[in-house]
Amino acid sequence: MHEKMVDDILMTMIPILETPLGRLYQQDCLAVLAALEPESVDLAFADPPFNLGKQYSSDINDSLAQQDYLSWCKSWLDGMIRVLKPGGSLFLWNLPKWNLLLGAFLAERLTLRHWIAVDIKYSLPISGRLYPSHYSLLYFVKGSRPLIFHPDRLPVPCCRRCGGELRDYGGYKNKMNPKGVNLSDVWTDIPPVRHAKYKKRDANALSLKLLDRIVSMASDPESLVLDPFGGSGTTFVAAELTGRRWVGCELDCSAILQRFDSLDADRLHLSQIRTRKNVLFTEQDLQRRKKAGNPLSSHYRLSNDSEICTCNKEADNQNDLFTSS
Ligand SMILES: C[S@@+](CC[C@H](N)C(=O)[O-])C[C@H]1O[C@@H](n2cnc3c(N)ncnc32)[C@H](O)[C@@H]1O
Repeated sequence: MHEKMVDDILMTMIPILETPLGRLYQQDCLAVLAALEPESVDLAFADPPFNLGKQYSSDINDSLAQQDYLSWCKSWLDGMIRVLKPGGSLFLWNLPKWNLLLGAFLAERLTLRHWIAVDIKYSLPISGRLYPSHYSLLYFVKGSRPLIFHPDRLPVPCCRRCGGELRDYGGYKNKMNPKGVNLSDVWTDIPPVRHAKYKKRDANALSLKLLDRIVSMASDPESLVLDPFGGSGTTFVAAELTGRRWVGCELDCSAILQRFDSLDADRLHLSQIRTRKNVLFTEQDLQRRKKAGNPLSSHYRLSNDSEICTCNKEADNQNDLFTSS
């Protein structure tokens, strides 16, 4: 796009929401992407409509012909790539069916890091087919290596009743990282957003845990995070509460405005999410074991964060929200 035209667009674009860290535009993503500075974004995340014929409050046509859907996706992906910094990360959330084709398009422009399978059942079993049970999260980087990469570590999976480990680590217990287990490319711990307390509207909101994981992995405080399909604003909330700058758009921003009216519930939710990562055992599991009279093997090395002491927890959690993980 011609530079003069970009200037004109920027002049007419007024954010519908501004915070000290972020800007939200109630605009079409193609216009906003075209108006952003090239190579300015550290982390770009997109969760577009899946072309499943859903009714959106923004009244978009979600039943395009396959070729039209794909060429629309390629236009905004091109826009995202343009604004991504060298070494910046791009994540694309979609059904495997679409990400297979969009991934091939991206692979000609960026470097594939991972196809992450996020184990969430999203439909009823379909006769004659395998039960669709994962979303695809594509992770690409501009150039050969990411500038920022610090994946979360996860706690050892434990029984929800007694807190006992679900697998036996045998003689390796003392070799395990006190900060937790390595994050793999299959994520089985992301909840669908069902709980009324966290559900911001229909079925479209993604889990804050998912966005916290992505934001923590590929950005630092002060980084710029972009999401062109704001929805209920999950990406912006994850960025805002962890000290990242953010920019995004959405055709109908009402749910985001309502959410940003008070971030207290999200702040509390995020602090809970954050006590359950980067530790070898969650405090909850340690308590369960204690109750069940099933002490932890002394071979494990625990980080300070996972000791059972609960005093001044709230203050710790608040601090945690503003430090890089
Ligand atoms: C799947 S939802 C995103 C949900 C979001 N990730 C969340 O966690 O709440 C997709 C959103 O894209 C918005 N959208 C669709 N077409 C758009 C466009 N051309 N420009 C901006 N937003 C658009 C829709 O209104 C819808 O809210």
